[in-house]
Amino acid sequence: MNWTQYPDHGPDESLLGPVHGRRVLELGCGTGCNLAHLATLGAECVGIDIAPSQRAKAEARWGDVPGLTFQTAEATEFLADHPNNFDAVLSIFGPVWFTDPTSLLPLVRRALTSRGVFAFSHRPAASDREPGEHLRDSRAVARWDYSAHEWTELLSSASFTSITADIIAPPDGESVGTLVVRAEM
Ligand SMILES: C[S@@+](CC[C@H](N)C(=O)[O-])C[C@H]1O[C@@H](n2cnc3c(N)ncnc32)[C@H](O)[C@@H]1O
Repeated sequence: MNWTQYPDHGPDESLLGPVHGRRVLELGCGTGCNLAHLATLGAECVGIDIAPSQRAKAEARWGDVPGLTFQTAEATEFLADHPNNFDAVLSIFGPVWFTDPTSLLPLVRRALTSRGVFAFSHRPAASDREPGEHLRDSRAVARWDYSAHEWTELLSSASFTSITADIIAPPDGESVGTLVVRAEM
């Protein structure tokens, strides 16, 4: 389970709590590697991605894994259509970073079951970076680059509880950390 951009680095799936037998949704699942891992642990997994090419790659790679399905969908539209459906919602460098949280957070809450978990990661906002962390940044898409503190406030305003937001330091030889955020219903 890779919450960061570096393999086998940072927290594992325990961030989501027990996953066996639970319904898990990944927003912007890409080629589905993380979700395939959760499915092998017994989770019932749905991965959505706005790009049909990602679904094709995910199905080609993981189509035989039980309890794992992929769909082509936009995150807010999918969430709006699936109220009270998932025990955990995650996003790794995915749509949580690319979607206005005032629209997204109420929809995530609505899609979660009671005591559901919401967890996501993305690159740290400029205000959370270490001095000297220089990033190449083409800004091809809009991003909601909030700091750990700002995410905590946003999630609290959206009535999430037990919120943690931590910057995971990069591995040796790398300069960019990862912001990992977790909250509960
Ligand atoms: C940087 S990739 C990360 C993919 C995967 N989570 C991973 O860690 O490898 C971001 C993914 O989010 C998808 N995406 C972006 N905006 C989206 C949206 N609004 N709804 C669904 N998927 C979206 C993109 O198509 C892309 O596959």
